[in-house]
Amino acid sequence: MARQRRPGVNERMKVTVIGTGHVGLVTCVTMSMLGHDVVGTDMDQEKVALLRRGIPPFFEEGLEQALRAELTSGRLAFSGEPADALRDAEVVFICVGTPARSDGEANLIAMEGAARDVAHHGRDGVVVVEKSTVPAGTSERVRLTLTRESRGLRFDVASNPEFLREGTALADSLRPDRIVLGVQSDWARDVLRRLYAPLTDQGHELLETDIATAELAKHAANAFLAMKISFSNGLARICERAGADVVAVADVMGSDPRIGRAFLNAGLGYGGYCFPKDVAALDRLASRLGYDFRLLREVSRMNDEAVEAAAAKVHEAVWNIEGKRIALLGLAFKAGTDDVRFSPALQLAERLVSAGADLHGYDPRAADTAREELPDLNVSDTAYAAAAGAHCVVIATEWPEFRDLDLARLREVMAYPVIVDARNVLDREAVARAGFAYYPTGRTAILTTDVTAGPVSVEAVAVASGAA
Ligand code: UGA
Repeated sequence: MARQRRPGVNERMKVTVIGTGHVGLVTCVTMSMLGHDVVGTDMDQEKVALLRRGIPPFFEEGLEQALRAELTSGRLAFSGEPADALRDAEVVFICVGTPARSDGEANLIAMEGAARDVAHHGRDGVVVVEKSTVPAGTSERVRLTLTRESRGLRFDVASNPEFLREGTALADSLRPDRIVLGVQSDWARDVLRRLYAPLTDQGHELLETDIATAELAKHAANAFLAMKISFSNGLARICERAGADVVAVADVMGSDPRIGRAFLNAGLGYGGYCFPKDVAALDRLASRLGYDFRLLREVSRMNDEAVEAAAAKVHEAVWNIEGKRIALLGLAFKAGTDDVRFSPALQLAERLVSAGADLHGYDPRAADTAREELPDLNVSDTAYAAAAGAHCVVIATEWPEFRDLDLARLREVMAYPVIVDARNVLDREAVARAGFAYYPTGRTAILTTDVTAGPVSVEAVAVASGAA
């Protein structure tokens, strides 16, 4: 097969994306914005119908506008028929879900289905690229499925892990820190270099590795970031007992370029569809390969502990939780998204409700998704409505709008002026001035001498609030 071609500059290529979840849809839009002809396909026909009308099935800053612009440009289309979507593709991105099974192992059934679709409907010479996060070794399974199912189709398999974050997905994808290509043939390398030429021409770094390395690097990056967060949460527990300040400790640590400040924010722990699943999957992969990577289980245990610590603070702050009205500000797993999958805020909500709290939640974006996840949750339209009559406000997600809460108004509507700041969002001096008892995370609490009647006389007392 004549497989060597001269790389062209900003060539228009035919790309198909299987799976239109967060990674898949952003990949569709990005590839189209880079000038390629893109077809997105998904087995969920309702989703395909929405996408054709320019409606993303989830909230992501700037995505709807970009999706509509690309549909209008004529470069981007969606199809519910794999045969139509795959017929002309030179490059196929597999972006299907790889959820965790109950033992932590990634469920790769959708990967196999996607490989089968390419085998049946793809064209000769297609490059099949894994973008979903998969355990090292998956490409071999994809290759085998393609070989067994395709009856002579010539293809290449490659890995191109995605590092985008929800909330900044489009920007991350259009301005990546690095593009990682795991390839094992000159053909795949050449095709993918040409595909990404619009980004590498702008100076974005492209790292080429073998396929297993690229697959593993994605899991390693997520697990390492999760470890940084758990490390900070462990430090938070010590700081509370030692009278130290975990934010300042993180600043000091982070100013060392070998460590870096990012992902050292202590709080309620990590959530979302990626970190919990990827830490578990890497642990499972390691044990399958005969290595006991105990650190990863500890990272995950400490993450659960962060939610327990916050629940214990609420208990300390209001005494008995049973019968108390508690306002939970923030339901999404992080700011900037309506995603509540594996949200630590909802894990805390469940704990508080099972302890007997009358819980009222509020989130700027995630009210509907949170209601779907926890149908019994009361969700208010504003932070102040959630806080009305509350004995305690808990800040569970780091939404910027919580920094600007009108503390005087909050205090006025609450039954007790008590705040548990599980994400260290508020300015402690402002909170103290407003007369609140304040329980931050990994920092000294502020207790008041009178928390029932206003105006409250505030006495800032440094105490170790680490009852957790
Ligand atoms: C994460 C990675 O950051 C992306 O690089 C990766 O592509 C993505 O997973 C994926 O595998 O698809 P994402 O899940 O969108 O992205 O969210 P992050 O911004 O990484 O935040 C994860 C969680 O960590 C959130 O719950 C956040 O609140 C928490 N976090 C983050 C902390 O508790 N402390 C921090 O300092 C930073």
